[in-house]
Amino acid sequence: MTPNVELEAREADAAARGDAGKRAYVRRIFSEIAPRYDLLNHLLSFNVDVRWRARAIAELGIARAPEGAWLDLCAGTLDVGAQLAATPGFRGRIIGADFAEPMLRAGLGKGGGRIAPVVADALELPLPDRSVEGAIVAFGIRNVADLDAGLAEVHRVLVPGGRFVILEFSTPRSALVRAGYHAYFHNLLPFIGGLVSGHRTAYAYLPRSVQHFPVEEALAERLARAGFARVRWQSLTLGVAAIHVGERVDGAPLGDGRAERERSRVPGVQGTT
Ligand SMILES: C[S@@+](CC[C@H](N)C(=O)[O-])C[C@H]1O[C@@H](n2cnc3c(N)ncnc32)[C@H](O)[C@@H]1O
Repeated sequence: MTPNVELEAREADAAARGDAGKRAYVRRIFSEIAPRYDLLNHLLSFNVDVRWRARAIAELGIARAPEGAWLDLCAGTLDVGAQLAATPGFRGRIIGADFAEPMLRAGLGKGGGRIAPVVADALELPLPDRSVEGAIVAFGIRNVADLDAGLAEVHRVLVPGGRFVILEFSTPRSALVRAGYHAYFHNLLPFIGGLVSGHRTAYAYLPRSVQHFPVEEALAERLARAGFARVRWQSLTLGVAAIHVGERVDGAPLGDGRAERERSRVPGVQGTT
């Protein structure tokens, strides 16, 4: 490895492990790759990401409040918001929150006027308590520097009965699939991503961040600990990604022990691979 490549790899690894510089690092790399993000996203995922987002949106339960306000967290270039806005029956408003302004700018115009892009940190959303009907985050929560604080913040802004849907990469269970996935994610993807975006470190960070992200059961536990009830999850495409769903049941504030009691009242965390 040349000294530069080695430095970038070390920087990506430190951020993926969640070091103190993760927030600034993540914000910087997404701001820098914003102009090429959509192209690379669809190219590197063979367009499967569109199907995954559709399945995640289907879990939101928009029929409960089709005219309400919905949150697309870590909205990036607003692809989730655009797909949600185009969902039959949806007549609501979408708050697309992201802390990398260039990502939001790259997505401006998507969503047919139903999306309000907001430059905001997932850890400090400029939204009142119980103000959104549901929240969704696609490929974003893994990047949030403090996962538990991020989950608690979403819980705070959801109305009781509102769902939080997470679509995120995962690590396949099968050794065979994992081997192919590893080769693609750790070698081919950083190579193509680096070439097209001119930004090697961003695409070196991606596989590392997945590696350090909690597996499905562990993420489900973290959701439950943050106060979400009826937590469930399903694996997608041989375990390459997963969708988690949790619900705010009664609006109990966190930190007073009620979240824990709430969790013990609901049926256990359920998952399917
Ligand atoms: C991989 S992109 C996903 C974008 C979009 N959701 C999608 O499906 O294509 C991750 C996004 O999360 C944003 N992000 C990461 N941490 C964040 C935070 N703490 N607050 C707000 N946005 C954050 C990044 O700026 C980036 O735009």
